[in-house]
Amino acid sequence: MLLSVILIGLITSLILIYLLGINNERYWKKRGVKFHSKNKVTGVFWEFFTKQGAMFEKFGDLYKQYKGEPAVGIGSITTPALFILDPQNVQHVLQSDFNSFHHRGIEANEGDQLADNILFMNGPRWKLMRQSMTPLFTTAKLKNMYYIMDKSAQDFVTYLKEHPKLWEGDCFETLMTFCNAAVCGAIFGIGTESIFDSPFLGVARSVTAPSLKRNLTFTLMSAAPRVAKFLGLTLFRDVEDFLIGAMTNVIQHRKKENVKKHDFADLCINIQKNGTMKDPTSGTEIEPTYGILTAQAMFFLGAGVEPVATVIFSAFMELGRNPDILEQLHREIDENFEKHNGNITYDVIDGMEYTDKVLSEAMRINPPIGFLSRKCVKDTVLPVGNIKVESGTNMFTPIYDIHHDPDVYPEPHVFNPERFAKGNKHSDKFYMPFGLGNRMCIGERYAKLQMAAGLVHVLRHFTVKTKELKTAIKFKSHFVNVRPISADVLLIPRNIK
Ligand code: HEM
Repeated sequence: MLLSVILIGLITSLILIYLLGINNERYWKKRGVKFHSKNKVTGVFWEFFTKQGAMFEKFGDLYKQYKGEPAVGIGSITTPALFILDPQNVQHVLQSDFNSFHHRGIEANEGDQLADNILFMNGPRWKLMRQSMTPLFTTAKLKNMYYIMDKSAQDFVTYLKEHPKLWEGDCFETLMTFCNAAVCGAIFGIGTESIFDSPFLGVARSVTAPSLKRNLTFTLMSAAPRVAKFLGLTLFRDVEDFLIGAMTNVIQHRKKENVKKHDFADLCINIQKNGTMKDPTSGTEIEPTYGILTAQAMFFLGAGVEPVATVIFSAFMELGRNPDILEQLHREIDENFEKHNGNITYDVIDGMEYTDKVLSEAMRINPPIGFLSRKCVKDTVLPVGNIKVESGTNMFTPIYDIHHDPDVYPEPHVFNPERFAKGNKHSDKFYMPFGLGNRMCIGERYAKLQMAAGLVHVLRHFTVKTKELKTAIKFKSHFVNVRPISADVLLIPRNIK
């Protein structure tokens, strides 16, 4: 009896999956769009869960296979989904047609307090929160924060000199410690000394670390949000109590201290002082509780640690196998340290053009975020291919693949900072390490300062050599991040006074 019930259940499920696949394929064929029929129900997500590598690499396989198509339909359980290939269509989705594509495409559950941050918010709540956080990133505030990033970078060099074991250790992990100290100091005003083993680093690691559960949760929140809701899936529950407690302490302590530091904690105090956050146009209201303010802090922490470390690491990795470029960069760094007596201010770093070119090229070759997602919220048409897109469709747009497309960037695997020389045509309209359009990264200028501070201080005192790069770079099995793992970098002290 039990066996027949199981058998009937199994056969019914198989029939349902088969019909779902047929339905997904028909949906796109009817609209004249090629469909990736390898896994008609789970599309490239299946490849991600069953094979090595990062999600962006699975989209990369589609990018190569369907090159020349404006977009390709993919299985995404019950939600129609498109992977966009044509760069004009990418721009349309991310930038020009914001009215139809302002939704992030991931629906976090209500119980997931820390997921209630700008990245995952949508509609009028997103607009209100984004407006409220924007004042943190003005030039005046960034100049102020830069002193702290620079101090963290100097302290980091001292720390490196005192711990020679780190010169041959896991360079990426070591850079994460600098990024964490810089973010904690500059954005949250935590600690007067840079702390390289703080518990916040554990949080930063944990919120970006890939795991089967987190990858599955992301996938369901995007492809089958109702299933994710029904299962009550959450992304950040494990760090919720610690982080809300810690941020509440930081804000309350600052209130008592009554000292202005012009950072995130100050912004939170101002927001709370003004009471309920309101958008008069839409009538949207948000209560500035410690929970929701911590949710923003958590995302800033996650964004300021691993992605920034990825850029510095990628730069080191490329410099460590391109001695001429490294020499030119060392020259610029040394000249500036000598000219300004080691006092690398905001204005000095702002004028270091070669450093900027190296970092820009590092972000082209390894953009820390490999692809973007949006959900269509209003029926529309994509310009190339005249593709009709219905409200509810999930959109995936490549970053890594466009940055590596030889038609956009000739010889894409060659590390060449001169692509970013003034007056050089480097396809900047398709350069998007920080995304594009109204939802692009709010922390772009902050991140660039932090990576520059780390890079110039370390390279003033160390040179770099890349080890173990025998084949093409391999990447960690991340859902959104691009994290190279098959190479490491040696730090070698330089002889400077
Ligand atoms: C190298 C470092 C970083 C990279 C490469 C990066 C990249 C990105 C990308 C690709 C997006 C999505 C944009 C889009 O959908 O069009 C994004 C969103 C965002 N980033 Fe960053 N980011 C970095 C660092 C930071 C930092 C340090 C902060 C804050 C301190 C930050 C705050 C944000 C926020 C709040 C969003 C969501 C924007 C929205 O949905 O409105 N990011 N970032």
